[in-house]
Amino acid sequence: MKILQLTDIHLTSPGKTILGRDPILNFELALNDAFKNHNDIEALIISGDLSDWGEKADYEFLKEKISKLTVPTYLCIGNHDDREIFSKIFPNFVNDEGFVQYHKSFSEGNGIFLDTWGPETHAGFFCKKRADWLDKTLSDLENQCFIFMHHNPIPTYIIPTDKIMLLDTTYLEQVLRKYKERVKHIFFGHCHMPLSGSFCGIPVSAPRGTNHAGYPNFSEKYLLSASYLPESYSVIIYNEPSVTVHMVEFGYKGDIIVEGSPDYASWDKGTMKR
Ligand SMILES: [Fe+2]
Ligand SMILES: [Fe+2]
Repeated sequence: MKILQLTDIHLTSPGKTILGRDPILNFELALNDAFKNHNDIEALIISGDLSDWGEKADYEFLKEKISKLTVPTYLCIGNHDDREIFSKIFPNFVNDEGFVQYHKSFSEGNGIFLDTWGPETHAGFFCKKRADWLDKTLSDLENQCFIFMHHNPIPTYIIPTDKIMLLDTTYLEQVLRKYKERVKHIFFGHCHMPLSGSFCGIPVSAPRGTNHAGYPNFSEKYLLSASYLPESYSVIIYNEPSVTVHMVEFGYKGDIIVEGSPDYASWDKGTMKR
């Protein structure tokens, strides 16, 4: 099973840039690159910060764009989104309690999409109501699950970045500890940095994002740090017993050097030419 994760597309008005990069152009470049090189994916997930400032026009653009794709697209909302406006344009992704939480079946297991949004803040939240929904959903679904959410549940240990992480993970933790054998991986975004680790023993990962990039600047204590590292998306491949996650830097402008045989006539210094 192969799926694709785009994150932090930050759509904005045509021609407007963020840190010198055009989010609409980069979203289109990401899709072109992904569908050219990975035409065997079965679903596309965009894990939040869909719009840069929760604008209706951005969601309408996104709806139109994904309606033309050959695979289903599933969305999460992030801190830059507006839940109310999003919910009007994408009512199918909203549960009975008004949260952007739902599940979809994949060819192998299920995708569970969580809402970590809170009003007028960049930080993430996961309240008891959302956790109860997750508990019931995981209890009803009997096979393996893959969770997608916007905010990072793990700290980065970079002070400004961690001020806006998923602030209280208590309820999430309580639920996930019950089902950790069946939750194969948690995918998130938000930090604009490639990250991996684990939460409650469940592996987690995030790609950099399709537009502007962060940087793991541990010496800056107050402000978020940006960089011009390449735009990226994730390719996720699940084949029991493994989950493989690649961060593909489609924005990389350098050469890709195809050279040599992987065996190099075995362990031979003379045949390995570089
Ligand atoms: Fe973002
Ligand atoms: Fe975010």
